Formats: sequence, C-alpha cells, structure tokens
Amino acid sequence: MEWSSAVVWTCLLGAGLTLAFSTTTSMTGPRPPRLIDCVFHHYANVTCRWEAGDTPTTHYTLEVVRGKNRTLKNNSRFTCTTTDTSCTAITNSSVRVHFCISVIAHSHRRDITSHRPCQSGRIEVMLYPVPLNSVKPVRGRPHCLYVTWERIVTVFPVSFMEIYAGDLKSQIEFTAEGQLNVQVKNVTVNDTSFLVCLFRPDTLYTIRLRHSYKGPQSPWSLWSNARQGRTGEDAPSAAPAFWRRVKQTDKNDWRLVSLLWKPLPRFLANGRVLFFNVTCQTESTQILNDHGSCRDLPHTSTSCSLRLPAGRCSCALTASTSAGTSPEARIWLPGASETELPPPEQITASPLDDNSLDVRWTAPATQSPSGFVVEWFAVGENSSILHWERLNSSCTSLVITEGVKPMERYVVSVKALYGEQGAGPNRTAHNYTRQGVPSACPAVETPKIIGSTVKLVWSPVPEELLHGFIRNYILSYSTGNHTAKRVLLPGDVHSCSLKNLSPGNYNISLQANTDAGAGTAWINHVHITSEDISIVMCVLLPLVLTSLALVLMACLTQNKMVKQTLCQYVPDPSNSSLALWKPKIALEDVMIRQIIS
Ligand SMILES: *[C@@H]1O[C@H](CO)[C@@H](O)[C@H](O)[C@H]1NC(C)=O
Ligand SMILES: *[C@@H]1O[C@H](CO)[C@@H](O)[C@H](O)[C@H]1NC(C)=O
Ligand SMILES: *[C@@H]1O[C@H](CO)[C@@H](O)[C@H](O)[C@H]1NC(C)=O
Ligand SMILES: *[C@@H]1O[C@H](CO)[C@@H](O)[C@H](O)[C@H]1NC(C)=O
Ligand SMILES: *[C@@H]1O[C@H](CO)[C@@H](O)[C@H](O)[C@H]1NC(C)=O
Ligand SMILES: *[C@@H]1O[C@H](CO)[C@@H](O)[C@H](O)[C@H]1NC(C)=O
Ligand SMILES: *[C@@H]1O[C@H](CO)[C@@H](O)[C@H](O)[C@H]1NC(C)=O
Ligand SMILES: *[C@@H]1O[C@H](CO)[C@@H](O)[C@H](O)[C@H]1NC(C)=O
Ligand SMILES: *[C@@H]1O[C@H](CO)[C@@H](O)[C@H](O)[C@H]1NC(C)=O
Ligand SMILES: *[C@@H]1O[C@H](CO)[C@@H](O)[C@H](O)[C@H]1NC(C)=O
Ligand SMILES: *[C@@H]1O[C@H](CO)[C@@H](O)[C@H](O)[C@H]1NC(C)=O
Ligand SMILES: *[C@@H]1O[C@H](CO)[C@@H](O)[C@H](O)[C@H]1NC(C)=O
Repeated sequence: MEWSSAVVWTCLLGAGLTLAFSTTTSMTGPRPPRLIDCVFHHYANVTCRWEAGDTPTTHYTLEVVRGKNRTLKNNSRFTCTTTDTSCTAITNSSVRVHFCISVIAHSHRRDITSHRPCQSGRIEVMLYPVPLNSVKPVRGRPHCLYVTWERIVTVFPVSFMEIYAGDLKSQIEFTAEGQLNVQVKNVTVNDTSFLVCLFRPDTLYTIRLRHSYKGPQSPWSLWSNARQGRTGEDAPSAAPAFWRRVKQTDKNDWRLVSLLWKPLPRFLANGRVLFFNVTCQTESTQILNDHGSCRDLPHTSTSCSLRLPAGRCSCALTASTSAGTSPEARIWLPGASETELPPPEQITASPLDDNSLDVRWTAPATQSPSGFVVEWFAVGENSSILHWERLNSSCTSLVITEGVKPMERYVVSVKALYGEQGAGPNRTAHNYTRQGVPSACPAVETPKIIGSTVKLVWSPVPEELLHGFIRNYILSYSTGNHTAKRVLLPGDVHSCSLKNLSPGNYNISLQANTDAGAGTAWINHVHITSEDISIVMCVLLPLVLTSLALVLMACLTQNKMVKQTLCQYVPDPSNSSLALWKPKIALEDVMIRQIIS
C-alpha cells in the first residue's frame, strides 16, 4: 500500500525526473501534515494549527475525538474542514477530559492522516479572564498589596484544590499613578486572594491579572478587568536636605541661626509627612532647651530659627509619616575659635540661557571635603530668599535655575563641607544670565555752578536697577548749535567738574553704561553767565607727591592755553593708577583715551 502510493506520487512529478531521484523519494515516503498546537476553550471549541505535508492537498479535516481511544466508534467526534492550515472545531465540552486529535490531508487520490497522542484538553487550555474584585493595602507592609479575584465555577476548569496545590501560573500587570511604563511580573497565586510585595509605599497602582494552567503549553488568558489600590505608608527612606544660615552673632557670641530644609520628594517621603523634628545639641551632647521657632514643626515648614551658643554644636532633623520617622540629617556648626577650613579653589558661574547658570568649582586641594553647598540669591531681592543645594563630594558643578531670571545680578557661592568639622568659608562669583541697560539714571545732586565751572556729584545706580555690570558713565554736554561733547568716566567715579565753560546755556546729561548699553539719562540745563572767573581746581592725591610739580605746571599751562573745558574726577583710591590720575590738561579726546586705556 505504502509502496504503490509512493510510485503513483513519483509519477505525478513528471517524466523529467531521473530514475535515481525517484528511487530516493520513493524510499522516504510522503511527509504528512504536522500538528503544531491546539488551543482549547472550556465548554466551547478547540483551534488547532498544523504545518502542511509535502503532498498536494485539496483540503484538510481536523478530527477531535473525545476520550482516550480514538478508535472507539461510540466516542463523540468533532470536526472542521479547511483549505488553510488551521481551523476551529466546536466541542461544547469540558476541557478536563481527554481529546484525540488528528489532521487528515485530502488529495484527489488518497488521504494522509497525522495523529498525535490523546491528552487532557486542559494541557492546552486558554482560561477565561477572571474578574478582579479588589486590590487592598496590607497593614504594616507598605510594599505589598492584597489582590482578590473570583473563580466562577462554570467557566473555570481548575478546582480550588488544584489552585491551592499551585496548578496556576499567574502574572500581574501594574502601572504606578502618573507613570507611563507598564510592568508585568510573575506572581504566585495559591488562592483567590494573594499577596504581592513588589510595590513602592504610598503609591496608587492599577492592576490586572491573568492566569494559565501549569505547564508551558497553556497560553495566557486575556487580562482581567483593572482595579486600583494604594500601598500603605512607610517611614521616609531619607532625611530632607538640611542646611543653615548664621544670621547674626550677639555680644555673648550666641548665634542666631536659621535652619533650612527642603520638602522630601515623593519617592523618599513614602507617605504624607506629618511633621519635622529638630533637635540641637552642644558638643557635650547636652540637648538645647531653647528651641526658638523649631518646636512643633508642621509638614509645610521648611525653616526655623533658634539661638545657639558660641561653642561647637550640631542640629539634627527628621521627617515623620504615619508609619515612622526618617533617618536623621545632621549639620555641625563649628565654634568661633576653630581653625579655618579651606574654601573651594575656584568658582565660575556662566549663563547657559536666560534662566540658568552653570556653576563650576574646584575642590580644595589640601583637605578633601565630604560635600558642597551651593547658595545663590539675586542682589536687591528680598534677602530672606536664599536658594541652596547640597551636593556630595563627587560633584563640582551644578546648573542652577531656581529663581534665576535675566537682568538680575546673582551672587553664587560655594562652601565645602567637612563632616563633623562643619562648613568652610565660601568662594563667591557674581554674574548675570543676560545683562540689560540700567533702568534708572544716576542720582545727581543739583549741579554747583561756580563761575565757569559746573560740579556734578552723583550716587551710583542701585545694583538691582543696573541690570548689568557697570562699565562707565557717559557724560555729555552741549551749548547752542555746537555738537554735544561726550566724556566716558570709569564706573567707580562719582563726581566730575566741567571747567572753563563759555557763557551760555548748556544741556548736560549723564548715563550709566553696562555691557548691554546705556540706560536712562539724567538731563539738566545750566546757564553760565561769567567768563571771567576761572578757578582751576586740581585735585591731588597726597601720596603722589612727585606728580605735584607736574600738576602745577599743567595748571599753569592750562591757564595760558586757549580756554579748555575738562572734567575732573576723584578716582577711587583703591584702584587708582598713575595713568588714570595724570592731570588732565589735554583736549577731551586725549583724556577719553586715557580713561579708556
Ligand atoms: C472559541 O471559543 C471562544 C471562547 O468561547 C470564543 O471566543 C471564540 O470565538 C471561539 N472560536 C470560534 C472560531 O468560534
Ligand atoms: C482502543 O479500542 C480498541 C477497540 O476497542 C482496542 O483494540 C485498543 O486496544 C484500544 N486502545 C487503547 C490505547 O486503549
Ligand atoms: C462505547 O463502547 C464500548 C465498547 O464497545 C463500551 O465499553 C462503552 O461503554 C461505550 N461508551 C459509551 C459512552 O457508550
Ligand atoms: C452545549 O451542551 C449543552 C449541554 O451539554 C447544551 O445545552 C448546549 O445547547 C450546547 N451548546 C451548543 C452550542 O451546542
Ligand atoms: C499560599 O501561600 C502562602 C505563602 O506561600 C501561604 O501562607 C498560604 O497558606 C498558602 N495558601 C494556601 C491555600 O495554600
Ligand atoms: C515568568 O514565568 C514564565 C512562565 O512561567 C517564565 O518563562 C519566565 O521566565 C518567568 N519570568 C520571570 C521574570 O521569572
Ligand atoms: C524629636 O526627636 C527627639 C530626639 O530624637 C525625641 O526625643 C522626640 O521625642 C522627638 N519628637 C517627636 C515628636 O517625635
Ligand atoms: C560670567 O559669565 C561670563 C559669560 O557670559 C563668563 O565668561 C564669566 O567667566 C562669568 N563670570 C564669572 C565670575 O563666573
Ligand atoms: C521678605 O520675604 C519674607 C518671606 O518671604 C517676608 O516675610 C518679608 O516681609 C519680606 N521682606 C521684604 C522686605 O519684602
Ligand atoms: C553624588 O551625587 C551624584 C548626583 O546626585 C550621584 O550620581 C552620585 O552617585 C553620588 N555619589 C555618591 C558617592 O554618593
Ligand atoms: C561669603 O563669606 C563672606 C565672609 O564670611 C560673607 O560676608 C558673605 O556674605 C558670604 N557670601 C555668601 C553668598 O554667603
Ligand atoms: C543755530 O543754527 C540756526 C540754524 O541752523 C541759526 O539760525 C542760528 O543762528 C544758529 N545759532 C547760533 C548761536 O549759532
């Protein structure tokens, strides 16, 4: 039978084949279809897939025989027919019984049948999704949730006893509130309520459940309905970032100290913080009784103040939730007489954009710090607003954005921390993210006119109105139809005399100039009546005695020269130089060059 069918099949291939080839083929025989797998649905159907054999096939029949012996004629038989390689037979029977499955490949001349051993339908069952009833927190176990589902007897072909025995494989899918990533984890389910302990405290989770029957051939059920549950609170896993500011020291060397801390981020708080607890002690571990405002600190507080004695002391901070207290954060305040600790070596604060500054520093070379604190504030801003950040010792840069705006001058300082020795002195940088022009003019006193001299005295533009680093002042004056004359004065000069002015009406203006440009101008009109009085004022620095003669000569020369107008000012002695301080006898453009140089 087998031999003759092989001969028929080889003839079908055509006459062109060699004898050798047809002999080989006839030796192996045709390959039957191969069942890949089946999926059973309880009291519904079974779907099987197979691979085609190597004979031309017109269609297939899937035959499903209920029972353990496919040849018994009185067993229930279910079939489906297809030209494809999978089909679904309606069984309408429990999956707990055995099924014998065969695929029959039909061709014009003969049928080829492939069998597989009879086995329980449950091995390949796809369970129905179960109803998920509740997801609840577990008292005292903030990482766990208690999940309850329901076994509906009529549709769930695994008994309670089998569930207790561990015949289910299960997975949960969960998403934490506000997070996008969905996680799927294997869980052990030996009952219709079970504990899962892989969560974060105080977090709302959305959960779904799915099962499969033990063994690798049962596919996962569809996911259950979703339920939400929140894990219980835990004690905070870390203390808040803690820092201090010494505000003032009184005559007995007691220090008024502000203690500062940051709210705990959610992932460290593990619940709702109920209160903070601050305790300060002296070096001899004597707890200080004067708590200042540091008593009964509510969850909203981020600072408190108290007085600390002159000696070395330390303060500790903890945060508490309903479930417990965090580890403590401690800061040390060295006594006034203790040796100076090294500051960071270099600091720069460069703008990245309008709202951020890149702060970089170098760790002290002589002693390695345990960390750093970066503090910053805008000049002129309410001085009780101090921004700060604590960093570990491996950080030597920080991008600051909190409270950072363009056209404000920031004072950025870095201190190194040395564990129990406390914090070292600061190193400070000033900078702007973007400079602007001054929004106010210099406050000039009423000009004093003495003969042909106009004396101007002004106070600097307040730093918060400058919006940039002052580079110089622009003084200009004009009379009649003459073009205005401009004089540039260094930014640290705050007075100037215009001398030997011809009689007439003058417009005088003064502007502060930053890197971004000149700001609002102060403008004044003066009238010079007499041209006879010509007092030459030469302001001398007493320490530059050698230049005295020179100056006198200069003054004399000036008297003889064609009447010149010039501006004299008293430089700040701290940064005066001879170049700047040369008596100004030359024409204005010369003087300007001197000033700029
Ligand atoms: C088989 O049964 C399942 C479960 O009742 C059903 O969802 C599916 O549609 C059925 N398949 C076919 C082809 O009838
Ligand atoms: C199936 O039934 C047939 C006929 O009754 C019998 O000959 C055969 O041994 C049975 N096979 C098995 C595996 O029980
Ligand atoms: C089927 O037939 C066998 C013997 O032929 C018998 O033992 C068996 O009880 C029958 N089964 C049913 C369900 O009738
Ligand atoms: C399935 O079988 C039950 C009884 O066993 C019957 O009541 C029901 O009508 C059957 N359903 C189908 C779709 O054949
Ligand atoms: C399920 O497992 C847990 C822990 O492994 C055990 O405490 C519990 O008794 C088990 N339940 C059943 C019904 O076996
Ligand atoms: C989860 O279970 C499946 C099947 O039981 C297994 O293949 C897989 O490796 C398991 N995954 C993990 C992460 O244990
Ligand atoms: C605050 O901390 C101190 C010292 O650790 C402790 O004695 C006190 O009971 C704490 N207070 C509260 C309200 O927890
Ligand atoms: C201020 O910023 C400029 C860049 O705009 C930078 O070159 C300079 O070094 C910064 N100054 C300080 C003190 O960091
Ligand atoms: C500064 O701010 C604090 C709190 O932010 C406020 O109590 C105080 O009155 C402010 N002072 C000024 C001068 O604005
Ligand atoms: C220091 O802080 C950085 C950034 O916060 C972190 O990546 C690093 O692991 C920390 N190093 C140590 C030693 O804690
Ligand atoms: C830096 O230290 C000096 C001297 O102790 C102090 O006057 C100044 O206010 C400090 N600057 C900052 C920004 O903390
Ligand atoms: C100023 O110029 C105007 C015309 O531009 C002329 O009429 C006037 O006489 C001039 N005045 C002086 C003081 O030169």
